[in-house]
Amino acid sequence: MNIPFLATISTLFIVLSAICVAIGWVLISKDKRRQHKNVMITAAVFALSFFILYMSRTIFIGNTSFGGPDDVKIYYTVFLIFHIILATTGAIFGIITLTLAFKRNITKHRKIGPVTSVIWFGTAITGVVVYLLLYIIYEGGYSTNLFRAILG
Ligand code: HEM
Repeated sequence: MNIPFLATISTLFIVLSAICVAIGWVLISKDKRRQHKNVMITAAVFALSFFILYMSRTIFIGNTSFGGPDDVKIYYTVFLIFHIILATTGAIFGIITLTLAFKRNITKHRKIGPVTSVIWFGTAITGVVVYLLLYIIYEGGYSTNLFRAILG
């Protein structure tokens, strides 16, 4: 099994980010405001690290195609799209939630915070499943980077 270093690290970043969000939720439910703030900012830094790593991997190394059997591929693709939708929604909600917190619009922040958190948990869980399907359960397929994809 050939475990890819960058994909493993970036999956780890999403998981760490989700763990921070869970801890941050527990902290604010105990009214520990300063700690909630610090842990949620850490969650955002992990999420940003994931994004930077993911983008550089996409541009310079490329995305890996599914290497499993053809009859599983359709399920993988549908699941991957579901994960991408969750991740994009989670990122947008995350930015809104953070902005509301910094603008001290705490009423709205409290309303949207749990929604953002649950979307982010879903992103992390589906992200791990995509990682397992792509690299661990089946051998990864070929990779093509953006330059090769565009320039041939
Ligand atoms: C279960 C979900 C959440 C609840 C109930 C919640 C609730 C709160 C509350 C009540 C405060 C105000 C604390 C104070 O008065 O100083 C706060 C602050 C804050 N929250 Fe959340 N939050 C949630 C999720 C999040 C998430 C997902 C993030 C990050 C994306 C986040 C980031 C922050 C930050 C940075 C502050 C500090 C704002 C500041 O002091 O400038 N929160 N949160």
